[in-house]
Amino acid sequence: MRLIQHKKEAYWFYRYLSIFYDKLVNPLFWTKRMRDEALELGQLEPGLRVIDVGSGTGFTTEGIVHHVPAAQVTCIDQSPHQMSRAKKKAALQGCTFQLGDAENIPFGTDEFDRYVSAGSIEYWPNPQRGINEAYRVVKPGGIALMIGPLEPENAIARFMANTWMLFPREEEYLHWFREAGFQDIRVRYVKPHWVTGRGEYGIAISGVKPKAGLSPAAARTPVEVEETAEKMTAGRWLQLAGRVLIGSLAGFVFIPAALFGYLRRAFSSQEDVPEEYRERLNGYQIAALAVIAVVIGLVIYGLS
Ligand SMILES: C[S@@+](CC[C@H](N)C(=O)[O-])C[C@H]1O[C@@H](n2cnc3c(N)ncnc32)[C@H](O)[C@@H]1O
Repeated sequence: MRLIQHKKEAYWFYRYLSIFYDKLVNPLFWTKRMRDEALELGQLEPGLRVIDVGSGTGFTTEGIVHHVPAAQVTCIDQSPHQMSRAKKKAALQGCTFQLGDAENIPFGTDEFDRYVSAGSIEYWPNPQRGINEAYRVVKPGGIALMIGPLEPENAIARFMANTWMLFPREEEYLHWFREAGFQDIRVRYVKPHWVTGRGEYGIAISGVKPKAGLSPAAARTPVEVEETAEKMTAGRWLQLAGRVLIGSLAGFVFIPAALFGYLRRAFSSQEDVPEEYRERLNGYQIAALAVIAVVIGLVIYGLS
């Protein structure tokens, strides 16, 4: 079903999610420790030119600029609302920001030493096309690093995840990278500490571009009708609103699960974890948890 794996739907999803993305949602699912572990695969160093695709509010970009000066980093996102928040961040002053589509990157071939994309592939209608674009913009010998979720093993979580957006299997990531022409493909798994269930949660996958030019797969990958340029009829607006609403509800099921997971961790010492990587709820998340507890209480009271 994957209701928000569309460019227009993703645009409207982030139109409102950007308001509380950094404070409430992102820290539950994509932590600093996960980010820094995943970025190791990108072999980032000063002097390299890096493109961050689907850069959003700049959380991953903040990890990139620990290794590479901001002036060497270009951020691309299709959401002006997400990007406007990244532009205000002190560490990202000096980065280049450009609105653009991951499946049609507004930069030339062989331009960047590194390509990074975190948590964005879930929304791309044609992931192979996006990964072919990663190949195209990287210089020969350069590395592309993609970070994304994996399909949950639990049947209920899998159903909700697949209703919301794309949660690929590891074989799919590997297939897309091989098909695009990448070599020396490496994989690393990442998950927040509060996730204790079976199976892997997220994947970082990197590959090296062996020679200059376009991806060998570019000619074979069908170019779909440009969604962003599609004509919006009343029916299409209705469909879009329904998809964003139901897709959001399916996605938001994961928020209470994560909040309660975090709460459990709050009572463990986390002494083995460096201070900056300790998972703690912030004020916004505690407020959300309180609201959820009140709602559950009212429902139980109403049923009794
Ligand atoms: C979960 S956020 C990740 C943001 C950031 N990379 C981070 O680590 O926090 C996903 C981002 O991908 C962007 N996005 C979705 N589809 C896109 C596309 N086709 N082209 C460019 N950006 C896209 C969204 O606007 C959103 O900002």
